Amino acid sequence: MKFFIDTANLSQIKEANELGILDGVTTNPSLMAKEGIKGHEAVFNHYKTICEMVNGDISAEVVSTDFQSIVEEGKKLAAIHSNIVVKVPMIKDGVKAIKWFTDNGIRTNCTLVFSAGQAILAAKAGAAYVSPFIGRIDDSGWDGMQLIEQIATIYAVQGYRTEILAASIRNPNHIIRAAELGADVITSPLESILGLLKHPLTDIGLAKFLEDAKKFA
Ligand code: G3P
Repeated sequence: MKFFIDTANLSQIKEANELGILDGVTTNPSLMAKEGIKGHEAVFNHYKTICEMVNGDISAEVVSTDFQSIVEEGKKLAAIHSNIVVKVPMIKDGVKAIKWFTDNGIRTNCTLVFSAGQAILAAKAGAAYVSPFIGRIDDSGWDGMQLIEQIATIYAVQGYRTEILAASIRNPNHIIRAAELGADVITSPLESILGLLKHPLTDIGLAKFLEDAKKFA
C-alpha cells in the first residue's frame, strides 16, 4: 500500500519524506488556503516546489466545474511536472473530463467519492485513482471502511485498474483498516502516519533496554 501525505504544508511534507516511506502527496483547495497560498501563480509555484521535494505522484485539484474549463485547467496543472495527477471532483462534467484526460494521457484522481456507484463511474472513465472520503463518511454516521471494502470487491470482480486511494483519514486505525481491506493507497495527515509508530510497550521496553545498557557501558 502506498503512503501519500494529505497536506500542502512544506515542513510536514519534508518530515514525512525524510521518514523514507512517502510515495506521494495530495492537496486540495482547502489545504492550499490553510497554508495562505493565494493566486494562480503562487498555487502553481507551490505545486512545483512539492514536485521537486517528493519523487512520487502529486495530486493537484482543479477548481473549475464545467467540462471545458476542467480540461483547460487540468492541462495547465499537468504541464507543471510529469508527476502531477489532476484531481477532479465526482460531478457529471468531472467524469466527462476524466475520460478526456484518460484518452489524452493525463492521469487523474477522482475526488469527493462517497458511494460505490461513484467509484464505478470513476473507474469506467479511467481515473488512475479514486478517492473515497472515509473520515467524512464516519463523521456523518456511516461507515467509511465499509465503502473501501465494497469498492475493493467491485474493482476485483470487474478487473478495474483504478487504484483505491483511501482519503480523509482521521487516525492511525483508519490506515491499518485500509491496508486490511485492500486499499492501494492511503492519503493521511502527518499526525496519523506518525501515530502508527506509537505503542506504550515500545516506550517501556526501550527505556528498560537503555537503562540496562548503562550497566555494561
Ligand atoms: O484531500 C482530500 C481528503 O483527504 C480531505 O480530508 O480531512 O478534509 O475530510 P478531510
